[in-house]
Amino acid sequence: MTFLGIDIGTSGVKALLIDAAGKALGEASAPAVEPVRPHPGWSEQNPTDWWTATLGAIDKLKASHPKELAAVRGIGLSGHMHGATLLGENDAVLRPCILWNDGRSAAECGEMEAALPTLRQLAGNIAMPGFTAPKIAWVRKHEPDIYRQIRKVLLPKAYVRLLLTGEHVEDMSDAAGTLWLDVAKRDWSDELLGVTGLTRDHMPSLVEGSAVSAQLKDEYVSRWGMSGPVVVAGGAGDNAAAACGIGAIRPGEGFVSLGTSGVLFVSNEKFSPNTEGAVHAFCHAIPDTWHQMGVILSATDSLNWLSRITGKKQAELSGEAEAQFKGPGEAIFLPYLSGERTPHNNAGARGSFTGLSQSTDTAQLAQAVMEGVTFAMRDCQRVLADAGTSINRLLAVGGGSKSALWLKMLATNLDMEIALPEDGDFGGALGAARLGLCAATGANPADVMSMPPIKTTIAPDKTLSGAYSDQYARYRALYPAIEEARS
Ligand code: XUL
Repeated sequence: MTFLGIDIGTSGVKALLIDAAGKALGEASAPAVEPVRPHPGWSEQNPTDWWTATLGAIDKLKASHPKELAAVRGIGLSGHMHGATLLGENDAVLRPCILWNDGRSAAECGEMEAALPTLRQLAGNIAMPGFTAPKIAWVRKHEPDIYRQIRKVLLPKAYVRLLLTGEHVEDMSDAAGTLWLDVAKRDWSDELLGVTGLTRDHMPSLVEGSAVSAQLKDEYVSRWGMSGPVVVAGGAGDNAAAACGIGAIRPGEGFVSLGTSGVLFVSNEKFSPNTEGAVHAFCHAIPDTWHQMGVILSATDSLNWLSRITGKKQAELSGEAEAQFKGPGEAIFLPYLSGERTPHNNAGARGSFTGLSQSTDTAQLAQAVMEGVTFAMRDCQRVLADAGTSINRLLAVGGGSKSALWLKMLATNLDMEIALPEDGDFGGALGAARLGLCAATGANPADVMSMPPIKTTIAPDKTLSGAYSDQYARYRALYPAIEEARS
């Protein structure tokens, strides 16, 4: 018996096969078409591109690991959160999906909170433009013809599930990021849905991430040469899935993720909302478990931007920064290229460089970008601490964790040891595969979601702590000053 995890990321789809002991057997990926930005602050992707990339990744596995793929009994899905996939009659896609890092609905967030003053208590979260519900409020106002045709709203991975199984189902962790879920009760909230003029009929049905959501269609069972019935688990939003992959399911266990977005994630035994500081409080992907996270919108995406404008690859830029690193430099970067969620909740915030001189080179700009993202993660840790949450174990995940310098900056600024798994690029795929295993076999998630082998542990560099605290204080002073100057 084997299990397949499919992680639908903003930049591509990764498919990972594991055996019954959870060991990785093979993986394949396929790139997605980059999000389009029709206006500053907007971000959209075509749902059929996720589907093409999903088929592409699994077809590659069929070519490289036919026997292992044939033995699949359970599939788990992980996906980028919050995206509004609008379906009309016969599940036809009505418009491109409005993504998690799209900031167009800031005005609608204020209107929603005014219309339902208990929104924050019910949803456990601030209405932020990244979440799904405000996007629908925007469509209702600006694209009424589309709004009238909406029959279902699905998150990205639920759309892929629909095509794999024919069913409309969502798991609790992803559903929590819509702003329509009563996160404490793990059920849709009629009141929250009502604020955007929707009802339960517009929503998929809900399951826990580790439970069976539907069966894989026969057509795909035969396309991939699978021999038996295959169940698809509820799965998880990409962050909860990553937590399942690194074994962060008990209180205080967490991770720092340097992906397109940056996330500081911690598991909680109970629902622990704290809307101050724009902390996200969501369901975890396993029953009776919740989590909090601070989310920044441009982590490796900031380096990606620098890479686009300098023509140098991300690895080249971080390598140059590492080669000449001597401690915090003069330049400071605010990573608000797509606005910011934690701690500012300001979709209109924008990035900045300060402290440039004639001698500033690309290596110094790259260092400043990596430091700016690190300081943004330090902000997340500060607001989680303000919420009374302490993190007692932190692993690093995501593409940015390949940089030793970035990890040293993080460990020093968070003043915590950070463990790096042997396979540094733990996305949601492993957690998703583990959820597929639980759904197919009935295994207890607590036994399956173990910590992976650790390659190395990065300790804070105490010789840099003081200099970084000073630089962080300067960084924090810049946002209010720059916002005031921009307004
Ligand atoms: C979390 C968030 C991002 C996306 C993209 O709230 O918006 O982490 O899930 O990966």
